[in-house]
Amino acid sequence: MQQLIRGRVLSFYADPHDTQDNHRYFENGAVLIGDGRIQAVDDYAKLARPDLAEIDHRPHLILPGFIDTHIHFPQVQVIASWGAQLLDWLNTYTFPEESRFGQQGHAPAMADAFLNLLTDHGTTTAVAFCSVHPESAEALFSAAHARNMAMIAGKVMMDRNAPPEVLDTPRQGYDDSKALIDRWHGTGRQRYAITPRFAITSTPDQMEMTGQLAREHPDCHVQTHLSENLDEIEFTLGLYPQARDYLDIYETYGLLSDRLLLGHSIHLRPREIARMAETGSRAVFCPTSNLFLGSGLFDEAGLRAAGITSGIATDVGGGTSYSMLQTLNEGYKILQLRGQKLTPLSAFHWITRGNALALGMADQIGTLDPGSMADLVVLDSRATPAMALRMARAETLEQELFILQIMGDDRSIRQTYVAGRPMKPTG
Ligand code: GUN
Ligand code: ZN
Repeated sequence: MQQLIRGRVLSFYADPHDTQDNHRYFENGAVLIGDGRIQAVDDYAKLARPDLAEIDHRPHLILPGFIDTHIHFPQVQVIASWGAQLLDWLNTYTFPEESRFGQQGHAPAMADAFLNLLTDHGTTTAVAFCSVHPESAEALFSAAHARNMAMIAGKVMMDRNAPPEVLDTPRQGYDDSKALIDRWHGTGRQRYAITPRFAITSTPDQMEMTGQLAREHPDCHVQTHLSENLDEIEFTLGLYPQARDYLDIYETYGLLSDRLLLGHSIHLRPREIARMAETGSRAVFCPTSNLFLGSGLFDEAGLRAAGITSGIATDVGGGTSYSMLQTLNEGYKILQLRGQKLTPLSAFHWITRGNALALGMADQIGTLDPGSMADLVVLDSRATPAMALRMARAETLEQELFILQIMGDDRSIRQTYVAGRPMKPTG
């Protein structure tokens, strides 16, 4: 069945860093969807037909759904835990909480809550770390599959430096990951990400098994953490004394490729930057988390100049908001501190097409190109009295986008469509 979604429509076809000719905007536009996919985007008058069902979102903005390229599913009850930097935060709050995901019934309940939170915040695809327990990934994939929502996820592999309830072994981690890949990778819109948590929590034996999995499944993403915090880097290099630097550990086990997503990537050495660029490995900027945990300031312009593609992400529960708009807000401020700028067009490109490119999935998500899945977000730039007052002075689309980028959150999300289906109550 076809449907027409009416409103002001914006999507990107090029990176605003590269060219001024980067987006299409229809003031009186519409998106034609059918079978869960985008069929056309144009002026409303060109697409309207008497037989078509219509949903009218005027005067709101319709964009591709947001993509979050790094988030921790088992940290829904860790977000906003006080007072610690990375390693203490993991030991004090995070590992104990993640241990609950081995208990019967907990992961399925949390998976539904987690997906509701994502779509309430306008996010239609996420790349998620699950807990060590295969049940956690199983629960997330089943809930996402039931909604036809594209998730990229994996159970973390970790076999040291954490409580026994959240540890596996090299063999168990490999076998559980393999079984999840067989069951979920390519099932509907689900994709598997091979997930060694980070070098601190994996022995060399486990890293070896991770490399084997990555070789056996070259079309799976691999996700981990890199150089988030100075104490973390020091501890890591002590555990792998042969490594030339932190990235070298992942390199040694054959993980570097354009499918590798390296959360944080803040305190990098020149050799690491060069190798990431040569291998196409992705950096993932997590602004609210980097400020909350006091980790450091991501060098967006430096990595881009080196030829590295970066994603942007919430990193809940180190991150403090599920909102990609709030993520852009804090990202803007971090780049200010570095003397760099995040323009509104670059910002909205990043959380849609940019993140899709970072994932190698821009043919399916992140744009409104015909054939893409109909994952959409509908944004209200006047969602709060403060926004409405500020909007009264906005004269251009870019000014409006910047107000959303700085002041927006879940209150600005009027509707979220996943494969053409509204995720919030209608009417
Ligand atoms: N490094 C290893 N695990 C984690 C995690 O759960 N959150 C963050 N922010 N960094 C990590
Ligand atoms: Zn993380």
